[in-house]
Amino acid sequence: MKKSEAEKIYQKRLEKHHDELRWLYMELYDNSSMFAELCNHMERFYAERNGDLKTSDAEREHRPDWYRQNDMLGMMFYVDNFAENMKGVEARLDYLEQCNVNYIHLMPFLETPKGRSDGGYAVSDFRKVQENLGSMEDLEELTAACRKKGIHVCMDFVMNHTSEDHEWAKKARQGDGEYMSRYFFFDNDYLPSLYEKTVPQVFPTTAPGNFTWLPDAGHYVMTTFYPYQWDLNYKNPRVFNEMMYNFLYLANKGIDIIRIDAVPYIWKELNTPCRNLRQVHTIVRMMRMIGEIVCPGILLLGEVVMEPEKVAPYFGTVEKAECNMLYNVTTMATTWHTVATRDVRLLKRQLDIVNALPKDYVFLNYLRCHDDIGWGLDYDTLRAEGMEERSHKQYLNDYFQGYAGGSNSRGELYNADPVTGDARFCGTTASMCGIEKAGVEGKEDAMEEAIQLDVMLHAYMFMQSGIPVLYSGDEIGQVNDYTYKENPDKAADSRYIHRGKMNWELAEHITDADTVEGKMFGRLKRLGQIRKTEKVFVSGADAWTVETGQQSVLGLARAFGGETLLGLFNFSESGQTVRLHDMDGVYTDLVSGENIDLTEVTIPAYGFYYLKVDCLSR
Ligand code: GLC
Repeated sequence: MKKSEAEKIYQKRLEKHHDELRWLYMELYDNSSMFAELCNHMERFYAERNGDLKTSDAEREHRPDWYRQNDMLGMMFYVDNFAENMKGVEARLDYLEQCNVNYIHLMPFLETPKGRSDGGYAVSDFRKVQENLGSMEDLEELTAACRKKGIHVCMDFVMNHTSEDHEWAKKARQGDGEYMSRYFFFDNDYLPSLYEKTVPQVFPTTAPGNFTWLPDAGHYVMTTFYPYQWDLNYKNPRVFNEMMYNFLYLANKGIDIIRIDAVPYIWKELNTPCRNLRQVHTIVRMMRMIGEIVCPGILLLGEVVMEPEKVAPYFGTVEKAECNMLYNVTTMATTWHTVATRDVRLLKRQLDIVNALPKDYVFLNYLRCHDDIGWGLDYDTLRAEGMEERSHKQYLNDYFQGYAGGSNSRGELYNADPVTGDARFCGTTASMCGIEKAGVEGKEDAMEEAIQLDVMLHAYMFMQSGIPVLYSGDEIGQVNDYTYKENPDKAADSRYIHRGKMNWELAEHITDADTVEGKMFGRLKRLGQIRKTEKVFVSGADAWTVETGQQSVLGLARAFGGETLLGLFNFSESGQTVRLHDMDGVYTDLVSGENIDLTEVTIPAYGFYYLKVDCLSR
């Protein structure tokens, strides 16, 4: 690209957003010299962005729905757990392709202190890769190799806080006022205790409170998460600018998707819960515009693990877009509620809510991630059916620990709060589906049933609109890893139970249909292939739920370009017969190729059908 041409492109993008960006910046900071600095740096990052990335930006600008296609399938993993280091990941790209995966989320890989890292979510240098994982050059090489294969790369941008070992934090700790103003420092407990009145706790048992006393500095510092994760003060424009430079620096390393970690927390105000404040949206909106000016090929994935009313606003509006993508967290939690109750009613309701949202909202769908599962369900609806929040959470936690409801699940509680009685849950998908228990007990029938449940859940998840993301190891049914208990840096954090190392020995069996790994892998692979060949899986398809008349059977339908797919998912351990008399037409199951008569069809225990039809009456 000729220089002047590139400049013209930049100017055009800048013109589009400049006035709004300036307006929002001035509204928040009222500081025109800092705004001018931001603009200069944006231009510099644009100039430094390499030709391949600029080409891809231009392509994506012309095809804004590039990430809403039916071939999108993600996988998330810790670089070391998956393949030791960045180079190792590069060497495993063929495996990812076999999994039909074209989107990888590399879990936090930037420099972080050992033992005070929160799985890498305490960054001490935003421009340095953890030494054991490689270097920035390795990252660039990896993203370039991925780009060649059409694999998109996602990384975490942990912008709410830095590690206490970050150079700003070190200077602040030594009493340098300029750096102290980048965090929240207090020399007595008056304001901290006022904040505590309205700010809930994220880690009530592993890291109680929202402030940490620093005896050497004689100050309290705000630490919403762990004591070594110091909250950044975005009221300071220096913090905003510098973090935007870090964001652009990382985007220029070839990252396609920036996951904005813990985004609802980034603005603090006394007498508020310090979550989802108006200014958070201003910052995300500015970030979106900055991205669209400098590197429009990237996507923003917001981590908003909250109830649906709080999540959807992070998409922004059509004219003032914020995140491109958000986690479908309530659906995820409701899915497990459905497993434990064998009652699809709440899930159907939840999916109706999601399906009623504008079609250009893209959700990241998942069964589990690296974090715990919080039981954020629609308790108003459950209450109307006689279920109380506290006792139901208790049931779910008992169920998934394997103590109640005929459960075969295995796993552990997370941050059980003695005050509220609340607890969240940790475990791998396979362990929660019964694969671990069946394996330990050596029961073949139980194993078949567990695999069936695990595959059915994936099939159902793949049918939701958006991008499905697998957790590495789930594709071979990997179970809980209890070795974290022997590691003093991890022992207190039960999330490590489901963050085990990828077991490549097991992965050698992926083509052996007599093994658990072979069964899981083969069947998920088939689902991935179906998903990427059938256009009806595109994110923007019409999607709705279908009443099946059976409490344990979920009916989902999708329609696109004259084609319709009906999914039936049996959440119970016994076969269920449904009679859908008003649905005429010939239905072919995409998995088995069988024709199915909907006037009476029995769905096997934990079974499912992907039924394709030319025309369906709704
Ligand atoms: C996000 C991450 C979680 C981490 C927290 C603090 O919620 O997903 O793992 O503990 O942020 O950075």
